[in-house]
Amino acid sequence: MPIGTTITEYIIEEQRQIQGVSGDFTALINDVVIACKAISSAVRYGSLVGVLGTADTENIQGETQKKLDVIANNLFIKRNEWAGHVAALASEEMTDVYHLPAQYPRGKYLLVFDPLDGSSNTDVCGAVGTIFSIMRRPEGATGEPTEDDFLQPGTRQVCAGYALYGPSSMIVLTTGHGVNGFTLDQRIGEYILTNPDMKIPADTQEFSINASYMRFWDPPVRRYIDECIAGKEGPRNKDFNMRWAGAMIADVHRILCRGGVFLYPMDRKLRTKSQEGKLRLMYEGNPMSFIVEQAGGLASTGTQRIMDLQPTGLHQRCPVIMGSRNEVERIVAYHREGE
Ligand code: AHG
Ligand code: MN
Ligand code: MN
Repeated sequence: MPIGTTITEYIIEEQRQIQGVSGDFTALINDVVIACKAISSAVRYGSLVGVLGTADTENIQGETQKKLDVIANNLFIKRNEWAGHVAALASEEMTDVYHLPAQYPRGKYLLVFDPLDGSSNTDVCGAVGTIFSIMRRPEGATGEPTEDDFLQPGTRQVCAGYALYGPSSMIVLTTGHGVNGFTLDQRIGEYILTNPDMKIPADTQEFSINASYMRFWDPPVRRYIDECIAGKEGPRNKDFNMRWAGAMIADVHRILCRGGVFLYPMDRKLRTKSQEGKLRLMYEGNPMSFIVEQAGGLASTGTQRIMDLQPTGLHQRCPVIMGSRNEVERIVAYHREGE
């Protein structure tokens, strides 16, 4: 049986095109991939290995952690801390920057991750995933990395990706040269290139939003969704479909496969809690924006390109509107008109 292009092979080929690369990045991706395989396995065995349910601990965002949030976080750290490619890590599930144990060499990359996105889906056998983003440590920085080293806008990412643990396990990745999808071949334990050069269609008839927050929405979001729901009889002259997976990763993956727009916008409820959004800029907003833009889509807060935001804190949140270019442009225009 012939084996297709493995993810490692793909990254090595891609890195060969760049002058003077050291191989550190390729090795780092390899470890990220192994971590994702391990998390995929834990997710798949579920109740059989006792990993479902709550861990009875709270993270920095005040959310109760699932056992799998903690397991995935630890697997990701253990796989990536030892090899000398990263300088430090930061995760949605850890309050502060994770400094490497003293015995390990420090590398030039900063690795940021959401170990398990959509973790409330674990207990209902729903799709979940891992999101990661890689930046270079700022030039000239010395000593142990600080939070400031991580606070770079999304445009500075050198790589972003996600692993989706659904009916099959996939990794979708960009290094700034388009987006490629790889499917885990369980028979040989390798991710194989199955979705080369993924592109999001510019137009769509599908939207993704948690409609239970409708009463809190701002007028531009309300207008957009109202017009979609009005269908053929409304100003859009076409019917729309709605999907919400409860895991951003699954919703955005669907958009990469067949188009659509995903919204977790700013609303009155979030404002009352003094939150700048629900989703996290560093672990969710920026990496998923990089992927969406590289696939020809757009990602905005409603008023600003997400990747242009200057982060002020590791756990900063932001409104998210991403997907098919013409739909995002329309929602941004509604925000502009609403000002
Ligand atoms: P996480 O599990 O990493 O905390 O992220 C969950 C996020 C996102 O993936 C999803 O789209 C959203 O939260 C769902 O939020 P609601 O429950 O408010 O719909
Ligand atoms: Mn998440
Ligand atoms: Mn998470």
